Amino acid sequence: MASSLSPPEVPMELHAVNREKLLNSLRAHLSSSSRPSQGFVLLEGGKEQTRYCTDHEELFRQESYFAYLFGVKEPGFYGAIDVASGESVLFAPRLPAAYAVWLGEIKPLSYFKEIYKVNKVFYTDEIVNVLPDLYKGMGNPLLFLLHGLNTDSNNFSKPAEFQGIENFERDLNTLHPILAECRVIKSDLELALIQFANDISSEAHIEVMRKIRVGMKEYQLESMFLHHTYMFGGCRHCSYTCICATGENSSVLHYGHAAAPNDRTFHDGDMALLDMGAEYHFYASDITCSFPVNGKFTSDQSLIYNAVLDAHDAVISTLKPGINWVDMHKLAEKVTLESLKKGNLIMGDVENMMAERLGAVFMPHGLGHFLGIDTHDVGGYLKGAERPNEPGLSSLRTSRELLEGMVITVEPGCYFIDALLVPAMENTKTSKFFNHEEIRRFRGSGGVRIESDVRITSDGCINMTKCPRKIEDIEAVMVGAPWTIKKTSVGCVNGGI
Ligand code: GLY
Ligand code: MN
Ligand code: MN
Repeated sequence: MASSLSPPEVPMELHAVNREKLLNSLRAHLSSSSRPSQGFVLLEGGKEQTRYCTDHEELFRQESYFAYLFGVKEPGFYGAIDVASGESVLFAPRLPAAYAVWLGEIKPLSYFKEIYKVNKVFYTDEIVNVLPDLYKGMGNPLLFLLHGLNTDSNNFSKPAEFQGIENFERDLNTLHPILAECRVIKSDLELALIQFANDISSEAHIEVMRKIRVGMKEYQLESMFLHHTYMFGGCRHCSYTCICATGENSSVLHYGHAAAPNDRTFHDGDMALLDMGAEYHFYASDITCSFPVNGKFTSDQSLIYNAVLDAHDAVISTLKPGINWVDMHKLAEKVTLESLKKGNLIMGDVENMMAERLGAVFMPHGLGHFLGIDTHDVGGYLKGAERPNEPGLSSLRTSRELLEGMVITVEPGCYFIDALLVPAMENTKTSKFFNHEEIRRFRGSGGVRIESDVRITSDGCINMTKCPRKIEDIEAVMVGAPWTIKKTSVGCVNGGI
């Protein structure tokens, strides 16, 4: 299939708007603590990595905060913003002459000024002299450096370093929380890119649905997805490693890694759980579709699929500013448990099941996470906010109340994971909830996840993901019924037969 889409132009104004937003927040913070709005924000971009045993370079992807503020795709840069004037400055690496032989033309500084639309460009070895010059002879400016905890990876961002930095006064505390919070609320220009990443990835998922055949290998599904998003969307990067799980593998939440590399041959009767999202100009999509590899849902598969779909739809129809994400996780659990009870897999009072955290046996991961330049985007926990510690809830990547302009994934799931199911079925507090006979039939069948990316509007939300979700639509699309991905700028109309 060809594509109805083409990669959109990316206006560098997007990053100028991001810088302006940072300046407004930073200046407001400084003035509220009676500090002068002076100094420079200084960030160090990512560096290219070479394997120690060869000169092979991994394909470089820019550090996310640097990408947010400057949109620079090349490695080895620094970027600064004058807090008082708002002027932006890039520092480019001075490349050796051999670069021109092996890697191409050495671009002049004016090239970077032109394409990245910044006020000034110098070489990185000039930082130590340029910053005082730009400070208009007032000495060495205060540097606001990026240092703070990423609450997803538990790693700290690395503050910029350069030779001579010890002669500058450095502030390591102010920038990180302010910049992370800027990234939480998306501008219209950012939303347009996330929308395109969603459009091309939705189309690629549909392509896979149409081409899947019993007897294929999981990696062939990955390959089809990658081809479509790159060929027609210009997406050289994925937002994360593709999870192409079939059969029992679909209960392995982060399947697809090097030790489980999407290499199973799948069989008639298996479910597929495909979690794949392309990245476009640094901005992510994160989409999961679940369907039977032979194109026809059995009644057992429909039971689990619809339990998850009802949870997905219940959450999406509730989302709006002011809604708390922990409450949404619990809503998804409750809707799923009610369906499983109706399907005779579990029994008893659903409120009692909730109190015993039975939902976490079937869905051990969080309901969703912020999405942006990172798949698990920053800002999930504000400084001082406690992570819930109950099963399931402790996996939540945010516990915040929703605000207009946030983009968040809604990804309920229901899995039959022996490592969780068996202890829960043996536990005296939870054993009574299980219909042991019925559950036995489902063990080894894997799981279902349905994942869409939504943006919060002033009074609700818009689903940016355009894949078929109802069983009848999936079955129709798999045998070739048309499904149009309507191209939209920021607001979106879902696809449809
Ligand atoms: N694809 C990773 C996630 O859903 O969070
Ligand atoms: Mn996700
Ligand atoms: Mn995902």
